Amino acid sequence: MEFSVKSGNPEKQRSACVVVGVFERRRLSGAARVLDKASGGMLSTILRRGDMDGEKEQTLWLYNLPNTLCDRVLLVGCGKEREFNEAAYRSVTATMARTVNKSGAVEAVNYLTDLPVKGRDTLWKISQAVTVTQDTLYRFQQLKSKKDEVQRPLRRIILSVPSRSDLLPGEEAVRVASAISLGTRFTRDLANLPGNICTPTYLADQARQLNKTYKSVKVEVMEEADMEKLGMGALLSVSRGSEQPAKLIVMEYRGGKKDSKPIVLVGKGITFDTGGISLKPGEAMDEMKFDMCGAASVLGVMKAIAEMMLPLNVIGVVAAAENMPDGKASRPGDVVTSMSGQTVEILNTDAEGRLVLCDALSYVERFEPESVIDIATLTGACIIALGHQATGLLSNHGPLANELLNAGRQCYDRAWELPLWEEYQEQLKSNFADMANIGGRPAGTITAACFLSRFTKKYHWAHLDIAGVAWKSGKEKGATGRPVPLLMQYLLNKAS
Ligand code: BES
Ligand code: MN
Ligand code: ZN
Repeated sequence: MEFSVKSGNPEKQRSACVVVGVFERRRLSGAARVLDKASGGMLSTILRRGDMDGEKEQTLWLYNLPNTLCDRVLLVGCGKEREFNEAAYRSVTATMARTVNKSGAVEAVNYLTDLPVKGRDTLWKISQAVTVTQDTLYRFQQLKSKKDEVQRPLRRIILSVPSRSDLLPGEEAVRVASAISLGTRFTRDLANLPGNICTPTYLADQARQLNKTYKSVKVEVMEEADMEKLGMGALLSVSRGSEQPAKLIVMEYRGGKKDSKPIVLVGKGITFDTGGISLKPGEAMDEMKFDMCGAASVLGVMKAIAEMMLPLNVIGVVAAAENMPDGKASRPGDVVTSMSGQTVEILNTDAEGRLVLCDALSYVERFEPESVIDIATLTGACIIALGHQATGLLSNHGPLANELLNAGRQCYDRAWELPLWEEYQEQLKSNFADMANIGGRPAGTITAACFLSRFTKKYHWAHLDIAGVAWKSGKEKGATGRPVPLLMQYLLNKAS
């Protein structure tokens, strides 16, 4: 999809389609009012007949509107004007994208960007229009032999900005948002691939591919022998039960000043999580192919920042392994030694994410990071705590936590903080090793973060538990690409 920005009146647009909003009880938005005037009150007349009253998600096509230069006008219901907030703006944008895409119009001039959203400026609306549209039109069809394709899909969207002085910043917002969408799509594609295709080796190949496309991304892949030398006994204990060798993928993007410390992202890349010997129940186990969504989001961010040439130093690390039950798999009660030297009693082999992450987190000390953020589908408990709206956030550094929470609010990919209090650490006590890998039923998300915190003492660190937000179940089963937008917003804020 191609996006551009433009300032000008709706009746003057020589285009296949013009999109304007209508609020509830037939209240015309600014652009709709202009069209109404130009057409001698056609919009009001039609609305008065009762075809539409402006409720959210309603749409109405008008053809051959008098005194306009476009082929068709799409009216999009926006709900109550007083309640028109970020969520409403995002949802009418999605409706616009879906409806126009099915219409046969290959181009549209979108005036929904003119609608006032409390506390948000034009650039926010431009950027959201790009990412929401791309997210809405995304389909995963790689593995279908017959792809169902829209006959004449939408190819170009022109976004309205209020004045000519908004054009240049608007174009920049489009450029950045398009890069974010590209990264998000990459994340979703990787995450949607099944475990028999998307293995740790596949992820490593994808990283190498990134380096082919973007010379600015340097890639190094550590093999199990390398990890053995580094003493990564925790990570290796997870892949031992699988035919698939583990990979530790390191991607370095140096777009910032030479001496400025890098921001490090570490992704959980369990390409399939059976639970290991602590085998999971069968129901919905297919969804454990999504257990590499953290890794996929790191790859997506690396792609986005390389695409947009972000002026910042960023290192992406992916701890990739498959968690399978096998003769060589860990048994409950096994004790392993992590790269940090700390020993871990594996009381449950299904708490494998923290085992691969802890060694990756020790490894990244060598980069002397400004901050380290790990991203992981770590605990089912996070879904119980926060549902499918918020990413769980835990951190050993208040300012870093706040920067991430703010970034999430800014781009509407939101996180919510949980406490990482000392008292919770007790739950990880083991009679046989330095710590256990589980902390019992209470506060499962927090004790998982407590476990990781024992490996992140040397730097500012935040943990994002994305178990509830990284994918959808049910009829719309599929990866969401979250939290790529949040991470990108955080990095953009850092770069400016
Ligand atoms: N990948 C899972 C977490 C998960 C489960 C995410 C379901 C999304 C949906 C993780 O490896 C896991 O199995 N965690 C266990 C930890 C427990 C054994 C302490 C869990 O959440 O049950
Ligand atoms: Mn597990
Ligand atoms: Zn897992």
